[in-house]
Amino acid sequence: MVKVPLAPPRGMDDILPEEIPLHRSLVETVRLLFRLYGYREVETPPVEYYELFAVKSGQEILSHMYVFEDVHGRRLVLRPEMTAPIARLVAGKLSRSPRPIRLGYVADCYRLDEPQWGRRRRFYHGGFEIFGSKEPAADAECMVIFDDFLRRVGIRDYYFKVGHVGVHRAIMSAAGIEDDDQDTILGLLDRGRVEEAEESVRKLAKDREAATLFKEVAAHPAGPAIETIDELMAKLSKAERACKELENLRKIVKLASQVVEPARIIYYPGFARGLSYYTGFIFEVFGQGAEIALGGGGRYDGLVSLIGGPETPGVGFAIGLTRIMQYLTDRLMVKPQPDSPLALVAPLAEESIEFAFRAAHEFRRAGVPTELEMAAYSPSEAIRRAERRGARFLVLIGRREVESKTVSVRDLEGRFQEEWRVEEIYERAESLLGRTRVGS
Ligand code: HAM
Repeated sequence: MVKVPLAPPRGMDDILPEEIPLHRSLVETVRLLFRLYGYREVETPPVEYYELFAVKSGQEILSHMYVFEDVHGRRLVLRPEMTAPIARLVAGKLSRSPRPIRLGYVADCYRLDEPQWGRRRRFYHGGFEIFGSKEPAADAECMVIFDDFLRRVGIRDYYFKVGHVGVHRAIMSAAGIEDDDQDTILGLLDRGRVEEAEESVRKLAKDREAATLFKEVAAHPAGPAIETIDELMAKLSKAERACKELENLRKIVKLASQVVEPARIIYYPGFARGLSYYTGFIFEVFGQGAEIALGGGGRYDGLVSLIGGPETPGVGFAIGLTRIMQYLTDRLMVKPQPDSPLALVAPLAEESIEFAFRAAHEFRRAGVPTELEMAAYSPSEAIRRAERRGARFLVLIGRREVESKTVSVRDLEGRFQEEWRVEEIYERAESLLGRTRVGS
């Protein structure tokens, strides 16, 4: 016997039969939203060239990537996220598609994060990206879709943490701070190292005013979005470019508020995100009782051109499907349920197995999820086994049924027991479908 570990690699999870229906229903909700909002689904390989992420993902992501070499010495990675691969498509194969172009994906991503609640080394993203529009309606659409998703999966207590790195970038650009340095400073801000960020601005800025402005933004208290934006605009009235960015955030929030309850949108002026491709609006979603985000996104106008494509603005977000699944089961106490057959066909004697084999096929032809017992059991044993499997209907086939070419259909919730001729199964089985348990 070869001794192999029976657990998957640390921080990665098997998705078990009882977990699959919930996982699938989250994925199906994402796909329904693709359809409803006009996103075309794409797939990319889980392995990409290292350079794709090295360009603009930020130190946080780079230091948590699975990196390896192929036989030719090319540096490859397991994708840590999907925005860069999608931008690669838009820079390449989809560079001539009419704009705006909306793309969606459901994909597993890999990060060497320290495993803990909600933080895994393999997790799923359900994502939405819009390319070719700078309009605030595109940013607002991201929030609206996320809001729609949360309602559909039964999460009611949540809020949007919104921010705008365009405000910080405007202050830094006006003071002559280079893009790369801006990324580093925003990275510090994201990790809560506010003083270090301010110190860097002080050192790198060509004028002293910038550091004061930067600090003023970072220190401004969070609050209901529109009010907080207005307060900050009054404070920064002399910093014209920063105010223009705040005006952009205001428009986004106003638009999103047509659908999302305004009280759910909280502006955090000091908010930045770990990924360094963001140029404007950013957001994260938090659920009651979860201190880590259920998803997030933002605007990244320079990414496509940076990797060799035409100048193309972009905005999007990813829903953390794996984290949401954990949130639903651990915090909202949703009980995962395995798929069960609707009907179990049970031969009661050795001689009825052939007939049962054919009858089961008739049920499936009618679309009824049907399991077949492969050996004969007594009626009481057949009932026990059907209940254990969660079947709603039991189809018993004994010697008598074989002779009369019929099947005995029993509702295990006790509503009926009927005898059907085999050629009737296809039509009558439809009546069982209203009670389907598949995926519910
Ligand atoms: P992100 O914030 O790094 O953004 O990831 C989005 C979401 O994925 C997080 O809010 C979280 O729910 C989930 N997530 C991240 N890391 C883990 C992990 N180790 N385990 C479980 N769940 C995790 C992005 O990746 C961007 N690509 C989002 C985006 C799309 N921005 C624009 N378009």
